[in-house]
Amino acid sequence: MGEELRLLLSPERIAERVKELGREISQLYRGRPLVLLGILKGAFVFLADLMRAIDLPEVQVDFIRLKSYGFSDTSAGEVQITKDVELPLRGKDVLVVEDIVDTGYTLAFLREHLRTHEPASVRFCCFIDKAERRKVPLELDFVGFKIPRGFLVGYGLDYAERYRHLPGVYEVLLQK
Ligand code: PRP
Repeated sequence: MGEELRLLLSPERIAERVKELGREISQLYRGRPLVLLGILKGAFVFLADLMRAIDLPEVQVDFIRLKSYGFSDTSAGEVQITKDVELPLRGKDVLVVEDIVDTGYTLAFLREHLRTHEPASVRFCCFIDKAERRKVPLELDFVGFKIPRGFLVGYGLDYAERYRHLPGVYEVLLQK
């Protein structure tokens, strides 16, 4: 058993898009302090690049770790927090940074959870949007790339914890 990888997004293409997102985000939040909230583990690579593409004087960074269980096309997923936010978010503008949005259960859960922290605003920035697979309605404010299908790895995304370190994004082609 093995797998073959097919390149979908080169490091150069990713870098270009991340710069554009950084510019858009900088314009939207100009004059306001911003908290970037990354969802572990997958988003740490995207977040690291994105934060350096943001040109604002006041940016704070925090992480939350969410685990999902029982996800399938037929059953609703359950999401659990295994590491919560540490920065105070009350009255802050929060931009959630996510690597991939699939069913949307993770972000829908987080949206509700963040209400308890009473931020001034919550927006979502995701690197890859698999909109066709959405199970719950979700508005994404910034999207890097729309890729409808395929098992994707690299740039933080894993397959059984492998391939997160690859600088591009690849589709896993399973071999029998
Ligand atoms: C992935 C991804 C999102 C979630 C998206 O995380 O990083 O958090 O799944 O799926 P959803 O829209 O269907 O909820 P994963 O559980 O693979 O954890 P990881 O980030 O630690 O790899």
